[in-house]
Amino acid sequence: MAFIRSTVVAVLATATIATAATSGTGKRGLAYNNNNVYGNASYANEFFANSSQVTWGYDWGYPSWNLSSVFEFVPMLWGLPSGNDPDWTAAVKTAGTVNILGFNEPDLTYSGSSNILPANAAQGYLTYMQPYADIVRIGAPNVLWNNYDSTSSGGDYSSRVWTSYFMGNCTGCHFDFACIHWYQDCEPGNGESGADWFTSNVTDAYNTLQLPIWITEFQCYGSDDQQATFLESVIPWLDSQDYVERYAYFGVFPDYLLDDAGDALSASGQAYVSS
Ligand SMILES: *[C@@H]1O[C@H](CO)[C@@H](O)[C@H](O)[C@H]1NC(C)=O
Ligand SMILES: *[C@@H]1O[C@H](CO)[C@@H](O)[C@H](O)[C@H]1NC(C)=O
Ligand SMILES: *[C@@H]1O[C@H](CO)[C@@H](O)[C@H](O)[C@H]1NC(C)=O
Ligand SMILES: *[C@@H]1O[C@H](CO)[C@@H](O)[C@H](O)[C@H]1NC(C)=O
Ligand SMILES: *[C@@H]1O[C@H](CO)[C@@H](O)[C@H](O)[C@H]1NC(C)=O
Repeated sequence: MAFIRSTVVAVLATATIATAATSGTGKRGLAYNNNNVYGNASYANEFFANSSQVTWGYDWGYPSWNLSSVFEFVPMLWGLPSGNDPDWTAAVKTAGTVNILGFNEPDLTYSGSSNILPANAAQGYLTYMQPYADIVRIGAPNVLWNNYDSTSSGGDYSSRVWTSYFMGNCTGCHFDFACIHWYQDCEPGNGESGADWFTSNVTDAYNTLQLPIWITEFQCYGSDDQQATFLESVIPWLDSQDYVERYAYFGVFPDYLLDDAGDALSASGQAYVSS
């Protein structure tokens, strides 16, 4: 899991920028942030606004840092707040907000995760997400679905078990969709295919959760070319599964979907806009 994810919490700020939802229907989205020389959503705007497939973006928080209005900005409540945050309420109620995301990897315990006990996450969901169910679509916590090590927040169990405890505690909760993350080698060895692994894990998430699925972070570990090959393989599959509502490859950063210098799409970035 990339180092860059541990830095996103630092970008949360107070102002909210108005956005207008796009009318595009593509499932593809942008996981971006403002940790760049521009201090805004410039990479997302410059390199992806022309793609009819790319229709939405999120930055692990709010505001959008001037994400172009051709994209739907999806605000995220990254972790458990200490109390009501008027800026979160404002972000949810901003014209153009259609969907909201809650809790980034609450199932994990590393420094870049929000590390929340299942029972506390359920209470937090009821307090800070559920009240908005009438005005926007709300998503279940973003969990690392293929973490089946016994290393989850609260105990020696997998992220699947964390999720089952969360659901068990979330009495009366409404979910419009479920959110998962996935990281794995592009070529896991033993002749296995990272793409097959990915599609089997996404299928498993749907079969288990029985909700539309958003894959809010995913990446295979490998060279840029290996990642491009992976995307060319999984994108047609993702686009043809009715239960996959949206997905966002990690991420809109130099050395990821952009080249080292951040001045062009990488091979995987090209695959992301053109597959
Ligand atoms: C992003 O920041 C750069 C540098 O300050 C500025 O030129 C550009 O207009 C900004 N883009 C947006 C969309 O605000
Ligand atoms: C966002 O856009 C506004 C209006 O163009 C501009 O004044 C502001 O500097 C931009 N913010 C960033 C972080 O680029
Ligand atoms: C997007 O389209 C505009 C207008 O056609 C063009 O100027 C720009 O270079 C394109 N951007 C990319 C990244 O292809
Ligand atoms: C509620 O969560 C706790 C851990 O936070 C777990 O031990 C308990 O089994 C969960 N309850 C249900 C009904 O899933
Ligand atoms: C993910 O897929 C791999 C390969 O098929 C499988 O071994 C593993 O159990 C799956 N895990 C989950 C959580 O779906």
